[in-house]
Amino acid sequence: MTLSTDRVTTQALSLPEELVLMLLNEDSGYFHQVPGWHLNCAVVGAALAELSLISRIDTDMDSLILLDQTETGNPVLDHILNQIATEPTQRNAQYWIERLAPRAESIIDLTLERLVDRQILEHHEGDFWTLAHRAWQTDMFSSEGEGTAAEFVKTRISKVLFNNEIPDPRDVIIFALVNTCDVFRFMFQLDDELEERIELVCRMDLIGRAIAEAVTQNMNVPLIGRAALTKSIPQVPLLKFALHRHLRDGNLPALFADLAEQYGPVYQLNPPFQKPMLVLAGPETNYWAHRQGRTYLRARDYLQDFEKVYGASGILPALDGADHFRFRKAMAPGYSRARLEGQLEDLYDHTRSHMATWEVGDTFRAVAMCRQLINAQISPLMISVDSQDVLDDLVKYKTRALSTHVLGVMPKFMLKTPGMRRKAKSIQVLLERVQSVHTAAQRAGCPRDLADDLFSLHSSDPSFLPESNLRFVLSAPLIASVYLGDGLSFALYAMASQPELYARIREEADALFDGGDPGRESFTQESIDVTHRFIMESMRMYSIVPMSVRNVMNACVVEGYEIPEGSRVFIAQAAAHYMSHVFPDPWSFDIDRYLPSRNEHLSPGYAPFGLGTHTCLGNRWMELQLAVNLLLLAHHFTIEVSPRNYKLKIDPFPSLSVSKKLKFHIAEQRRELPV
Ligand code: HEM
Repeated sequence: MTLSTDRVTTQALSLPEELVLMLLNEDSGYFHQVPGWHLNCAVVGAALAELSLISRIDTDMDSLILLDQTETGNPVLDHILNQIATEPTQRNAQYWIERLAPRAESIIDLTLERLVDRQILEHHEGDFWTLAHRAWQTDMFSSEGEGTAAEFVKTRISKVLFNNEIPDPRDVIIFALVNTCDVFRFMFQLDDELEERIELVCRMDLIGRAIAEAVTQNMNVPLIGRAALTKSIPQVPLLKFALHRHLRDGNLPALFADLAEQYGPVYQLNPPFQKPMLVLAGPETNYWAHRQGRTYLRARDYLQDFEKVYGASGILPALDGADHFRFRKAMAPGYSRARLEGQLEDLYDHTRSHMATWEVGDTFRAVAMCRQLINAQISPLMISVDSQDVLDDLVKYKTRALSTHVLGVMPKFMLKTPGMRRKAKSIQVLLERVQSVHTAAQRAGCPRDLADDLFSLHSSDPSFLPESNLRFVLSAPLIASVYLGDGLSFALYAMASQPELYARIREEADALFDGGDPGRESFTQESIDVTHRFIMESMRMYSIVPMSVRNVMNACVVEGYEIPEGSRVFIAQAAAHYMSHVFPDPWSFDIDRYLPSRNEHLSPGYAPFGLGTHTCLGNRWMELQLAVNLLLLAHHFTIEVSPRNYKLKIDPFPSLSVSKKLKFHIAEQRRELPV
């Protein structure tokens, strides 16, 4: 298949690439409903078929023969060709599919990567893929017909199906593989006639038939083998857990890491008066959750009661599948780093105005100081109102709702106490405040904010984002500001307690701000190298969100343990941050881990922002905002930890924050704040 657009050079697509494009579902940002193993078999089948079409191998129903082992230049195909060439015995296609399918994920990864490199697909954070803008640039029905970049394989296949066009051998193979995966029914509305046509096309080519047959024979294998091979999940004795030193000092990632070292990557905790907790901890389970989570896990269940508390249904963290991807796409600009970069001047202004209320000699509780500082920025930037007066109510109400309606550690009526009812009113106050400044007349000429995006989505599709969800979605950025505020407390603690690093961050700050306020182009990798690595290390050692909760919607096997459908898993994504085989000497604060020579964060063990489809949407925004706060603070102030002999303790609920005892003392103001 050849691609051509005005600007795209002509390039051949391999069959695995065409299959991936065919199976991609633009709505969900992932593949049509093909379970992992089926997809693996089909992609390996496509690779073998491609090798056959380019005469490297010959295959029929019974045999697979190597014809020519010259490399093709495509790493996916060459890897397979090499394995076939070095196999001493001649095997058939079924054997090769069975042998290669368990590792087909790397083939799928490479295939997706190649399509992204060629700007045919676009990769979105959270592992979603869509057709790249460029792929849509040419006329879909150009007279050259054959395969413009926008036309792609789907249109070709549709033409074979609906217009009875005669397919070429490549199309027959794609047809056969898609049919084997039983995916046509999700793409087209099939009737008897179309089904007959599919069967007919599938029989037109021998290679296609042979490969499809071999794929079919392999598809049932893992289901048969699963139960017999799995191990039983270790139970952690209650005392071991309850008396653990990291439960006492609040460091949940270190607790989960330590238990994983003793019991393995999957274990069960049985806390008293609560349902058992199935914990997944370590880089391997992180990788699994990241790659396979969308097939086996669901976010909706554990948040269902929680969203009802806000009168909402279908909030972003509680959505799955295509609806989730649609919401994420719609919200992505509002949470993006680019949006914040466009408002740097405002960010500096809000930050400095708040810092101007500090005086030398003041001592503040770390948690409140940092939450208020960050809220003073996020609230006007994202929803264009001030919300310092309601922040505390919103946070306390949300924390109580998590205790009563998610974790079940308190009875539900505890959310209805007079105090909580009063706090709940602040949610409505905030909604009305935001609505009152988001009339068309008042927004004219203002930079777009997240509330604008939410109101637009609501008016364009009120069933997708109903009015009943607005209370929650408009207060969500303030909840996120609490996470970021807590991240800042940890970072300031790390900075104030390590003077050498404080000095290096200050050096970068002075270089950036001495000559006037830096624009977005000034925040380069070099200019904030130390600050950036410092933030990464702070996020490793002090991960605000230590785990994610999910319900198992399809039984699965993780690292050899069978996890039954219906169970609830706690993915302790930050546990690996304290595993010495992932981060050597994990208790030392070492920003050099992230130098290119070490790159320790490139392992799936580094996950401060979560894993898979729900990966933090604000992480790039958050990194820039955190960097600006550290830099401005280091530029203007010297702060000290108070009391001086304070030993870090962590408050682990509902997310990690420094203990209430930590304070920051404003020891010096180095220069005036230009407010
Ligand atoms: C230190 C600060 C932060 C940390 C550690 C953090 C971490 C996380 C994590 C771990 C998740 C995934 C939760 C899950 O899988 O259940 C998440 C989701 C999310 N975060 Fe953050 N976050 C931070 C700050 C922010 C900020 C400042 C914003 C907004 C500007 C933000 C916006 C979001 C959104 C919208 C989601 C939901 C994504 C989805 O469900 O698809 N976060 N965050």
